[in-house]
Amino acid sequence: MPQYAVQPCTIDDGADIARVHVSAFWTEPAWKIIWPNKTREYVTNECKKRMPFNIITDPIYRRQQKAVDTGTGRIVGYARWTLPELDGVEVGSLWPGAKAAEVSGERKQAAAEASASADWAYDGQVTSELDKAVDQMKKELLSKKQYIVLDILGVHPDVWRQGVANLLLNSGLKAIREFEVKLDVFVVAKSAGVGVYDKAGLKKVGEVIQDGSSVGIDTDYAAWFYVWEAEN
Ligand SMILES: CC(C)(COP(=O)(O)OP(=O)(O)OC[C@H]1O[C@@H](n2cnc3c(N)ncnc32)[C@H](O)[C@@H]1OP(=O)(O)O)[C@@H](O)C(=O)NCCC(=O)NCCS
Repeated sequence: MPQYAVQPCTIDDGADIARVHVSAFWTEPAWKIIWPNKTREYVTNECKKRMPFNIITDPIYRRQQKAVDTGTGRIVGYARWTLPELDGVEVGSLWPGAKAAEVSGERKQAAAEASASADWAYDGQVTSELDKAVDQMKKELLSKKQYIVLDILGVHPDVWRQGVANLLLNSGLKAIREFEVKLDVFVVAKSAGVGVYDKAGLKKVGEVIQDGSSVGIDTDYAAWFYVWEAEN
C-alpha cells in the first residue's frame, strides 16, 4: 500500500495539481456539464496554464497543500483553504506551513500571462438557476461568523479510498486547531465529499437537494454544508 505525505505547494506543482484537480472533478456530473463539447484532456491542458498563477495568488489569505505518494513523488491530492479577514490579527502570518513559496516578480508576471491565455470559458449558465439556491444558503450560513473555507479538496481517481482526502483534511484541521485564534471551518460538499466530512466529524448544518434532470444529469444536483468547530 503506498504511503502519502502532505506538503506545501510551489508554483512548480501547478501542472501536476491541474491534472489531479480536473481528473478528480471530472467525475462529478454537476462539474462536467459546464464544459459542453470539451474533453477532460482539453480542460486539463487549459487548467495547467492557470494553476501555477492560482498557487501564488492571494498569499495572505490562501493556504494549500498537496498529497504526495512518497514512493513515486507523484502528486495525488490537493486541498485549498481561504482564511477570513480578522480584526487585530495578522492573517498572513497564520499557518505558514501551507503557504506557497514566494517567487520573483518576473516569474509571477509570466505565470499571470500564461493564466490569462487559458480558455476557461466554462458555461456557468447551464447550472445558474440551480446554483442560486445553493449560493443563497451558503451566503446565509457564512454570514453567521468568520470561517476558514475549504474551497477545494480533490484526489486523483487512481488512488481513491486510500485515505488521501482524509489525510489532507485532517492535516488542515490539526494545523487550524493549533492557531492562537479559534477559527471554525466551513465547506460545501458535493456527493463524493459527504463521506469524507462525516468520517472526519464535521457537522452537517444544511443541504440543498434539487432535481438534476433540468440540467441533464441523472443524479440530484445536491450540496451539503458542513462546519467544523475548533473548540471541539
Ligand atoms: C471526495 C474525494 C476527495 C475522496 O477522496 P479519497 O481520498 O478517496 O477519500 P478517503 O479515502 O480519504 O475517504 C475517507 C472516507 O470518506 C468516505 N468516502 C470516500 N469516498 C467515498 C465514496 N466514493 N463513497 C462513499 N464513501 C466515500 C469513506 O467513509 C472513506 O473512509 P473509508 O474508506 O475508511 O470508508 C474524491 O472522491 C474526489 O476527489 N472526488 C471528486 C471531487 C470531489 O467531489 N471533492 C469533494 C468536494 S466536496
